[in-house]
Amino acid sequence: MKVKVINGANLNMLGIREPQIYGAGTYDDLTRKIKMFANESGVEVSVFQSNHEGAIVDEIHKAYFEKFDAVIINPGAYTHSSIAILDALKAVNIPTVEVHLSDISKREEWRKHSYVSLYAEKVICGKGFDGYIEALLYLLDKNW
Ligand code: DQA
Repeated sequence: MKVKVINGANLNMLGIREPQIYGAGTYDDLTRKIKMFANESGVEVSVFQSNHEGAIVDEIHKAYFEKFDAVIINPGAYTHSSIAILDALKAVNIPTVEVHLSDISKREEWRKHSYVSLYAEKVICGKGFDGYIEALLYLLDKNW
C-alpha cells in the first residue's frame, strides 16, 4: 500500500506552536513516528508539508498520477476554508483519512466546520501524533 501524508499550514511549527494545544513534539518527531510505523507495517509512505494552499492541491494531484492508494491529510487552517483542497480530493477520488491533532469539535465555533470532512471517509481528531498512526491502521484494516 502506498500512502501520501499531507500536512498543511503551520504544521512545520509543531513543538514551537501553541504546545498546550498541539504538544511539545516537533514536525521532525511527527514525520519520524509516521515513517517508523509505516516501515514496520510494510506501508510505502511519502510525507509532505506545505504552508501554501496551491502546493497542497498540486500534491493531491501528484498522489493520483503517482498511483498512491490513499491520502492522510491534515490541512491545518485550510481545513476550515479551502474549497480548492476539497475539490482536489474529489478530483482524484483516492480514499482519504482526515487527521487533526486537536479536537476541532471542542474548540472555537469556526473550527468546527471542515470542508475536507465532506469528502474524507474517516476523520480522526484530538489524538495528537497517534492520530496519524490510527489513520494508517484504519487503512491497513480497510476492506479494499
Ligand atoms: C489542526 C486544527 C486546525 O484548526 C488548525 O488551524 C491547525 C491544526 C489540528 O491538527 O488540530 O493548524 O488541523
